[in-house]
Amino acid sequence: MAVAYLNLGSYVFAFLSLSLAIVALSVQAHIAVYDEYWTQRQTDALKQTMESYDPNPFNVTDHLNYHAALAMETTGSDNATRRELGEVGQKTKKRGGRHQSLNAIDKCWRGDKNWEKNRKKLTDCVLGFGQKTTGGKNGPIYVVTDASDDDLLNPKPGTLRYAVTRDRPLWIIFDRSMIIRLQQELIINSDKTIDGRGANVHITGGAGLTLQFVKNVIIHNIHIKTIIPGNGGLIRDSEHHFGHRTMSDGDGINIFGSTNVWIDHVSMTNCTDGMIDVIMGSTAITISNCHLTDHNEVMLFGAREGDVIDKKMQITVVFNHFGKRLVQRMPRARFGLVHVVNNDYTHWEMYAIGGNMNPTIISQGNRFIAPPKESCKQVTKREYTPYKEWKTWNWQSDRDYFVNGAYFVQSGRANAWSAAPENPIPKQFAIQPQPGTKVRRLTKDAGTLGCRPGKSC
Ligand SMILES: *[C@@H]1O[C@H](CO)[C@@H](O)[C@H](O)[C@H]1NC(C)=O
Ligand SMILES: *[C@@H]1O[C@H](CO)[C@@H](O)[C@H](O)[C@H]1NC(C)=O
Ligand SMILES: *[C@@H]1O[C@H](CO)[C@@H](O)[C@H](O)[C@H]1NC(C)=O
Repeated sequence: MAVAYLNLGSYVFAFLSLSLAIVALSVQAHIAVYDEYWTQRQTDALKQTMESYDPNPFNVTDHLNYHAALAMETTGSDNATRRELGEVGQKTKKRGGRHQSLNAIDKCWRGDKNWEKNRKKLTDCVLGFGQKTTGGKNGPIYVVTDASDDDLLNPKPGTLRYAVTRDRPLWIIFDRSMIIRLQQELIINSDKTIDGRGANVHITGGAGLTLQFVKNVIIHNIHIKTIIPGNGGLIRDSEHHFGHRTMSDGDGINIFGSTNVWIDHVSMTNCTDGMIDVIMGSTAITISNCHLTDHNEVMLFGAREGDVIDKKMQITVVFNHFGKRLVQRMPRARFGLVHVVNNDYTHWEMYAIGGNMNPTIISQGNRFIAPPKESCKQVTKREYTPYKEWKTWNWQSDRDYFVNGAYFVQSGRANAWSAAPENPIPKQFAIQPQPGTKVRRLTKDAGTLGCRPGKSC
């Protein structure tokens, strides 16, 4: 997250929620000239935030855990394991080849030999808070043929920047493997899928991806690596508008005031600022199957204590591998609710999951392998808050697998995110997550996949 914010004053919106509430959303957006266009975009985005927020988040967490269990069930030699749904220690003999052992998201599409012809089927596969994301499903396929990024104002047809700044929905693919060095941040418009399957696409050595006041974007199967700050300048953000931007931070993916975003099978390494930042009223987001390495501040969910709009933030982090030389923030959350489920935390140097401002953290079925250093065994970290306050925050660990002395400090009430917060869990919600002991298998293909036409992926 940025240090060099441009503070252009605050913009006050009134909106109706359960009670009539007023949110002051200050505008700090690398937008140098806050014109009518961006004012409208922000107004629309705030409406999307309110509409995308799910008042029954346990529906979504349960739905995910149910599908996770279903996917595992059919891997068993005994197909009548329904009764064992989610039980520990069930014997699972693999049968039917490697596609039988995929996690619930992957299993939905990777077995299809014709994935290349059925690319849009991917949109049936998303689980978690980003589950309504369809990206460019309702638009044509657009093929990127040109790796250059020379003209930020009038990008050449065939380039990635041209594709993402179009107004209509597009499903963007690549005609070959390519290395794209972005001169300045890539400002992605609504209703887009960036689908790197079938090519080896590296975004590296330049600026990162920006989703600002947009909705409905899928980023799939690309590498994002060594991202550096951009100086800003005049940059096109849509077909009929461009504007002056201040410096970008060097985030890998910056999700700002945006809704319905799915990031899947992305490999990320060594960005300058955050790897994935989700801020300023962004919600309905799933980050899945990613492999992350070589970074300090990995995921920031909610940037500042004044951004109370982030109470609407709902994010699923599932089947990711937090790998080598990562330091902290996987994620670090302010406000909002984060379902962190079936991820493999093999490396951290300070802590894994942290935050302040009373975020809800539902940690289920992760594997946490602590670093050797005695003072860093704790998975969790509450920032800047005395115990007297944080003891009521709902941070719950369920079926996590702790290795090498790792431990999770819980607080708040068990199952408090459910509509009927009770312990034991009411039967109708008793969908157990897959246990952390299975995580290695569930995340074995995290990061980009080498998919070939005519073969299952
Ligand atoms: C979500 O939860 C509410 C409240 O318990 C329930 O009435 C509703 O049927 C649920 N929706 C779905 C799709 O499960
Ligand atoms: C599961 O078992 C039932 C009855 O034992 C059988 O009819 C069915 O074909 C089996 N399904 C699979 C996918 O193996
Ligand atoms: C990380 O990126 C920086 C530039 O920001 C570069 O100098 C450095 O060599 C990179 N490190 C690795 C491990 O790639």
